Amino acid sequence: MKISLSARNPLKIAADLLIIFVSPSWKEEVSSLGADTLDLISDVAMIENFTGREKQHLFVDIQQKPVKRLLLYGVGENKITNIYELQKIVGKAIGLANKSRRRKVVLTVMTDWLKQNTAEAVSQAVAEAAILATYTFDKYKGEKHHHEKLAIEEIVLTASVPRLSAFEKGIALAKLYSAATLFARDLVNEPARITTPSYLAKIAQGFVKPRQIKVRIYEKEEIAKLGMNGFLGVAVGSDEPPKLIKLTYKPAKLTNKKIVLVGKGITFDTGGLSLKSSDSMETMKLDMAGAAAILAVFSKIAELKPNVEVVAFIAACENMPSGKALKPGDILKAYNGKTVEVLNTDAEGRLTLADTLSFAQISEKPQALIDLATLTGAIMVALGQDIAGLFSNNQKLTAKVKEAACRSGELVWEMPLLADYKEQIKSEIADLKNSTKTRFGGAITAALFLEEFVGNIPWVHLDIAGPAFAEKNTPLNAAGGTGFGVRLLLHLLSNY
Ligand code: BES
Ligand code: ZN
Ligand code: ZN
Repeated sequence: MKISLSARNPLKIAADLLIIFVSPSWKEEVSSLGADTLDLISDVAMIENFTGREKQHLFVDIQQKPVKRLLLYGVGENKITNIYELQKIVGKAIGLANKSRRRKVVLTVMTDWLKQNTAEAVSQAVAEAAILATYTFDKYKGEKHHHEKLAIEEIVLTASVPRLSAFEKGIALAKLYSAATLFARDLVNEPARITTPSYLAKIAQGFVKPRQIKVRIYEKEEIAKLGMNGFLGVAVGSDEPPKLIKLTYKPAKLTNKKIVLVGKGITFDTGGLSLKSSDSMETMKLDMAGAAAILAVFSKIAELKPNVEVVAFIAACENMPSGKALKPGDILKAYNGKTVEVLNTDAEGRLTLADTLSFAQISEKPQALIDLATLTGAIMVALGQDIAGLFSNNQKLTAKVKEAACRSGELVWEMPLLADYKEQIKSEIADLKNSTKTRFGGAITAALFLEEFVGNIPWVHLDIAGPAFAEKNTPLNAAGGTGFGVRLLLHLLSNY
């Protein structure tokens, strides 16, 4: 999709549709379109009982102008202040435009939005929302579908601001951030028979840029030599070889700032011998969404050029039942020497992450460690499907991640790492066990388990089991992988 910028009167731009966001005082807001157009809109508005209420919309045909049609989209009285709300409303309007099969759309930025946010932030948010809202994963659809498919091809943003340079910058960033997000969506949506651990490793190797990005793949033998037995334990049930993927980005300017990212990379989670039901297994190709987010960040990091060293680790494997699979009751020794009694082979993410986090922490000694993991169903019981749980041992890093989420328009909510609950993950015969007696507080006990492997490095764990995958179409997401966390991480790195 082409996105451009114009300072011209929107009625003068040849287009199939002009989208204007309005509040209940919409007559003032569209008065600049001229008396004729205002009269026309007023007539139609009267017939259709359009008042500019939230979510109300009105199509008006104005055939005599280079613009063929107007879409007035109501935002209501409540001013839109945050990026999340802003992107949702833009996504809805773009969704309507897409449904009405418009190819070239002009979209006006509400002056009101520019009062709360910088021009750069607003233009980035709007352009991103437009791109994210029109994404579909249809490569496996038949010829007929592609033949009939008609979608927005071009979007022109207009705004009444003195300088357009900030807008230009915002749009450039939007292109970068949304391309990365769509990259993650594609990876999650691709069936697990394609996105094997070896496939993820190949993708990573494709990012090598001799000066800035280095990639190292640890094969099974090396993983064993390192003593990453939690990771290996999960991997042994599968015929697909595990891969530990390490990516390193070094900025051109020397820096002593270093951040480590870790992504859960279970390319398919059957539950292992603690087999999932058919229903809960249906979507388990999503269990590498954390890894996908990190690969997506690396797909664009050399263009973004953040001024911080970034090292990422992905322990990629399948969780399968087989004659060789891990058995409930087995005990494994993790990379940092702690022993774990595996009571439930479906709590596999914490086993692979235990090794990855401790390896990352001990080998890299970063200033900050952030993991993204589709770790527990319990986090969805706590926060629903749209919000990621944030767990941390450090308030400063928490504030940074929350701020990045505010900028990216993604939802995170801080959850407690209550030390008292540690009792629940103590084993009678090993240091830890990987599952608890009750399901209560399951996202917290999982996070407490991970905490055993991060030492005293500032660490944030994002449990993205809910928002990583959309069950149905929403304003910004087609059903399937959402690319949650990609924009958050890009904002975080670029401001670090
Ligand atoms: N990958 C799942 C968590 C998950 C569930 C992600 C649904 C997205 C949607 C994870 O490996 C898992 O199975 N967790 C178990 C833990 C339990 C056995 C302690 C769970 O949440 O039920
Ligand atoms: Zn599982
Ligand atoms: Zn899992």
